[in-house]
Amino acid sequence: MSGDAKRVMVVGAGIMGGMHARAVASRGDLRLVAVVDSLPGAAEALAGRLGAAWYTDVGDAIDAQRPQVVVLATPDWAHRGPFEACLRGDVETIIVEKPLATTVEDAEAMVRAAASKGVMVLVNYSNRCDPLLVATRWAVEAGLVGDPVYLDLRLDDDVSVPRGLWGGRSREWAARSSPLHFLLPHLVDLAAWLLGGVRLHVRAASATSRVLPDSLDLVEILGSTPAGTAVRLKSEWVRHSSSLVEFDISITGSRGTVVYRKLSGPLAQPGWCLVVEPSEPDPALDAFIQRVVANWRASVCVSRSSRTDPDRRMSWVQVAIGPTSGPPGFAYLLDAAVERTPVPARWKALGAGPLPTGEEALACVRVLAEAGRLLRPAAGREGPARREAEG
Ligand SMILES: NC(=O)c1ccc[n+]([C@@H]2O[C@H](COP(=O)([O-])OP(=O)(O)OC[C@H]3O[C@@H](n4cnc5c(N)ncnc54)[C@H](O)[C@@H]3O)[C@@H](O)[C@H]2O)c1
Repeated sequence: MSGDAKRVMVVGAGIMGGMHARAVASRGDLRLVAVVDSLPGAAEALAGRLGAAWYTDVGDAIDAQRPQVVVLATPDWAHRGPFEACLRGDVETIIVEKPLATTVEDAEAMVRAAASKGVMVLVNYSNRCDPLLVATRWAVEAGLVGDPVYLDLRLDDDVSVPRGLWGGRSREWAARSSPLHFLLPHLVDLAAWLLGGVRLHVRAASATSRVLPDSLDLVEILGSTPAGTAVRLKSEWVRHSSSLVEFDISITGSRGTVVYRKLSGPLAQPGWCLVVEPSEPDPALDAFIQRVVANWRASVCVSRSSRTDPDRRMSWVQVAIGPTSGPPGFAYLLDAAVERTPVPARWKALGAGPLPTGEEALACVRVLAEAGRLLRPAAGREGPARREAEG
């Protein structure tokens, strides 16, 4: 470890905090100095494994350890308190788990307070760093799908998540969160980022709550961008699946479609492919393929329809990308903390915009609040079993 390694504290020693603490401890340019958790046993166990000090209070840890970087991984509804406690120290960077907050009021207060102290805030929407999602953004940017017409994102969890992921705390966890806070934020962030940073207008939102006693089961949002791209975002956590998580991405434009099955469920294989109308020559497609191969050391398979199908009167080019290799997404956020910029060198080289900032995560909270408002009035009308609203 280098002598000027930045001092890092992890708050929340649960599932994500444990992963983040191990990622920090594995780097030479960062030093894990403290782990904080309101459950003393959790903080002590994680800190002990990684040679850090442990605390149950963020303020005490800040005073004693003077961290420059804080990674905040408390539950969805418990981000603001520890975040504001961090701002009372000399912290340079706070990396917060998604969602930034569950209310616009909390998110605004957090972003405002951090800006007034010059603290950089990044939010762990690290799907942006997934090589095949970066490739999807490149394909859209290069005009390979043409004008984007429809973006369809689906992120679902198996019902074992709300029922048991957090052990004895699962029922409280699920009751204080929902797919609106736990899953959909990923999709709202991706929709904006894939389409070049646009703000999504929510047109309709619907939800059901028939399976879980205290939480919504699923939420679906229909929206559009200022350029007229239709967007559907859907998340449930009551699926009975052979996979813990299912994640499908597809975007259709005037010239082609990208389909990316990131995490597949029953009867589906993971994979990425682009299908476009052919054009000869096609320098944009050639440049895209070269970029994928150069950056992700991936194999790219290009197949073309051998002749125009006489019935369908069309031909196509299909580009499939094989397995990719790249650093885990969270590593780019740690790079950002080391270099003190939301566009650290390794990430900048990919040309995929900034890493997810506090401002962008605030915009995401606003979109989710818009969806939440559409759900609320209908709940009274239709009772707790089903909530649906059209905007
Ligand atoms: N980026 C992703 O892909 C991803 C995936 C899963 C979860 N998450 C997010 O990560 C966050 C944490 O989720 P998790 O599954 O690790 O939760 P968890 O319940 O496993 O861990 C949270 C820990 O925070 C502690 N805690 C609660 N309030 C605290 C406080 N005020 N001060 C200190 N410690 C406190 C709890 O005791 C618990 O140990 C959530 O916001 C969740 O949505 C992100």
